[in-house]
Amino acid sequence: MSDPAIAVRHVVRRFGDTAVLDDVSFDVAVGEFVTITGPSGAGKSTLLHLLGALDRPDAGTITVCGQDVAHLDRLTRYRRSTVGLVFQLHDLIPRLTAEENVAMALFGTGLHRQDRRRRVAELLDQVGLAHRARSRPPTMSGGERQRVAIARALANRPPVLLADEPTGSLDDDSARSVLDLFADLQATSEVTVLAVSHDPRLNARADRSLVLAGGHLEPGGASS
Ligand SMILES: Nc1ncnc2c1ncn2[C@@H]1O[C@H](COP(=O)(O)OP(=O)(O)OP(=O)(O)O)[C@@H](O)[C@H]1O
Ligand SMILES: [Mg+2]
Repeated sequence: MSDPAIAVRHVVRRFGDTAVLDDVSFDVAVGEFVTITGPSGAGKSTLLHLLGALDRPDAGTITVCGQDVAHLDRLTRYRRSTVGLVFQLHDLIPRLTAEENVAMALFGTGLHRQDRRRRVAELLDQVGLAHRARSRPPTMSGGERQRVAIARALANRPPVLLADEPTGSLDDDSARSVLDLFADLQATSEVTVLAVSHDPRLNARADRSLVLAGGHLEPGGASS
């Protein structure tokens, strides 16, 4: 067995007196597609933020692709290259076109303008939005915007994609295109996907669903 893509061990995250995450442990294998469900306020986004190195645990360890997330030397590089983050309220810049939004992720990576352009076109094509390259987010549907956010998260070919309710607000057709995209990513590029989801359509496609409640992963949820 190869090392897991994600290894979470005894993680605790407190806000004030409340341990939102209270001794959480689980693994996600390379190329696996796992969803996390659980009630509102259970700590799902908190967990995703810890994995994305946007926040630090009070105790426990998080290892992503062999890197100890709490003790990273190169935080920016980790956020840019190891994980791709997709938030439910995706932070696309409204005044920039789809292709400009995706290109943002490639600035500072040393890619030349031509290569950047080529990569952006490839990404928009991959998410089925080549025809929307020049559109601005306010003129796009929720599903289209979500796919632009995913394209941006994938720009630097991260081995791990973290997504917070990526289909939450989407109608069936839009949700299906995001789901197909995830399935395709797994099949063609072995991307490990961890997604917070209340969406039965998404959970049905996952290899496994973990349930977070009361600060714990419920019995049967953890793989280790
Ligand atoms: N920075 C913070 N400071 C204080 N409390 C916080 C902070 N971030 C989250 N919390 C609290 O931690 C709990 C878990 O929040 P979190 O956003 O992780 O929940 P969630 O499972 O993602 O919920 P939802 O399904 O509604 O998105 C909530 O009670 C929230 O108020
Ligand atoms: Mg949340």
